[in-house]
Amino acid sequence: MALKIKNNVYWTGKIDWELRSFHGSEYSTHRGSSYNSYLIREEKTALIDTVWAPFAVEFMENLAETIDLKKIDYIIVNHAESDHSGALPFLMEAVPDKPIYCTANGIKSLKGHYHRDWNFKPVKTGDRLSLGSKELIFIEAPMLHWPDTMFCYLTGDNILFSNDAFGQHYATNGLFNDLADENELFEECVKYYANILTPFSPMVTKKIKEYASLNLPLDIICTSHGVIWRDKPMQIVEKYLAWADNYQENRISIIYDTMWNGTRALAENIAQGISEADPSVTVKLFNTSFTDKNDVITEVFKSKGILVGSPTINRSMLSSVAAILDQIQGLQFKNKKAAAFGCYGWSGESVKAIDEHLKKAGFSVPIDGLKALWNPDSQSREEAVRFGKEFAAAWGR
Ligand code: FEO
Repeated sequence: MALKIKNNVYWTGKIDWELRSFHGSEYSTHRGSSYNSYLIREEKTALIDTVWAPFAVEFMENLAETIDLKKIDYIIVNHAESDHSGALPFLMEAVPDKPIYCTANGIKSLKGHYHRDWNFKPVKTGDRLSLGSKELIFIEAPMLHWPDTMFCYLTGDNILFSNDAFGQHYATNGLFNDLADENELFEECVKYYANILTPFSPMVTKKIKEYASLNLPLDIICTSHGVIWRDKPMQIVEKYLAWADNYQENRISIIYDTMWNGTRALAENIAQGISEADPSVTVKLFNTSFTDKNDVITEVFKSKGILVGSPTINRSMLSSVAAILDQIQGLQFKNKKAAAFGCYGWSGESVKAIDEHLKKAGFSVPIDGLKALWNPDSQSREEAVRFGKEFAAAWGR
């Protein structure tokens, strides 16, 4: 199936309704995804990206129904990760001599993945490829989100092919943003940004400013996952600028695991204290042992502060808390406050271990952690309420 996007530009990708995890098991995809490939049929024909390997045969059959493969003049690889290049070896079997346009890092990456020496044509920002009366302009976008990533822009139709940037893991039949459920769409957009792009926020801002300086009119953004932004495409660009700027809402997330419900009780009393001190703050609790880790990360992204709790086990914290802290550290959140809490029976190292991890992850830790011996009694619970109030007050200082 080839879906017309505008004039001679067609979508030739795959909607994957069944996908429930991506990057192995690293990213949950509750609403599926899509692998967007595009065919531009001007005087010359260009194919931009392919699909993930499990759909390669289907992709090739659909593409061959749309066009005689030998009539494809140029293959553009905006990004070599397998979800976009998985069908490339199949395509190159059919048209082995066709040129592949990608960045120098893209060549390294494709060679690393597929160990083939195809007809690579390295491109840099500002290079142009004539398709006849229209041109593709290449724009390198390293670390958005891989070193090889690039965008390309089609003159005349004013379409930016942005690959992963501005995308989201979201299967939707209509493909265009104005046909999608807006709430679901933006939930997936912010989850995608929080979990994938957060560490690269400085590059996001820089790249958007650089693109703006090119003064290229923008009618449509064709991403490589999820919707095509044809209705007010700048809305997602503006969201990215906001998300890249140390984004936070007036919320505090309490993230914990618990063995015998003592640490859970502390979490609930801390939440009570925050709400009593500042009823305007949205407070949410997440047990890390059974809450989707990517959803927790999205909540951390939106929060101005987090509290992380675990009872002590083997002189440290429960494994689900350690795992989410490791993920949080890798994402390099900025401008957020945090504190630690937890129950213990005899040695009680978890709070110190969490505290150290939070500081290492770049959080400001304005108050000492809260420890409660054994199952929290009424005094410990009152202490937890006070601790929540003190944390809420940290923004008034
Ligand atoms: Fe959608 Fe970085 O691949």
